[in-house]
Amino acid sequence: MFAQPAASVVLPLPGYSFNAHISSPAAVQLRPKTERTQTPTPPSFSIRAATVQDAPAIAELGATVFSTTFGFSIPTPDLNTYLDEAYSASAIEKGILAPSTHIIVACANTDNRVIGFAQLTEGTSEPCIADLERVVELQRLYIYADFQGAGVGRTLTREVEKMARDRRYRIMWLGVWEGNFKAQRVYEAMGYSRVGEREFKMGRCIQTGWIMCKDL
Ligand SMILES: CC(C)(COP(=O)(O)OP(=O)(O)OC[C@H]1O[C@@H](n2cnc3c(N)ncnc32)[C@H](O)[C@@H]1OP(=O)(O)O)[C@@H](O)C(=O)NCCC(=O)NCCS
Repeated sequence: MFAQPAASVVLPLPGYSFNAHISSPAAVQLRPKTERTQTPTPPSFSIRAATVQDAPAIAELGATVFSTTFGFSIPTPDLNTYLDEAYSASAIEKGILAPSTHIIVACANTDNRVIGFAQLTEGTSEPCIADLERVVELQRLYIYADFQGAGVGRTLTREVEKMARDRRYRIMWLGVWEGNFKAQRVYEAMGYSRVGEREFKMGRCIQTGWIMCKDL
């Protein structure tokens, strides 16, 4: 009888990290093109710069869309920590007032409701793009589910790209969760390609994201 070798059990560390890897079907899936062509009539909307008065509406939009899109992939305490940090009205207000972040909103022309927003962030980078010059980040792009697939994201992205070109940036970069297949396809449709990866921390949950870039 051989003595059993000491089992190599990986014990959870006190500061555990939970990597919601995408080996499960739990990812943001693509809709087939046929379904996408049955999109309801595109909404009539306008784009404008966000003001501090928009902070509660943007926070609500960001927290709702983030939770419905990614909530399944993040332990609830970590999700709540991240939502407090990133999508409280005060955090969004800070972003609107910060000189390095530029937030724009898409508003429905019928009732002026904020249906989407995007954020250009200056001064950020990642190791895999450290050697690139004049880069700027498309940091956030969120559209309410009822309005997705109707051109709002593309219009907001075009506007953010224009804002970047006006500021003499040459390359736009962004991070997208490795399991967000839908957004990856959307970004590819808009000319972005994958150049590397990064780790993205929400609370104690660490996920892997793609870094994508586009020449402006
Ligand atoms: C990803 C998101 C921002 C895209 O915005 P949108 O308004 O739905 O996208 P648009 O309708 O403007 O489509 C832009 C392009 O992507 C394509 N596209 C849209 N939905 C698609 C889908 N489900 N699968 C594949 N391509 C898609 C469109 O065909 C369009 O390309 P085309 O103009 O060449 O046809 C939006 O769906 C969203 O808020 N998703 C949840 C949050 C999220 O994942 N944000 C990104 C975080 S990195």
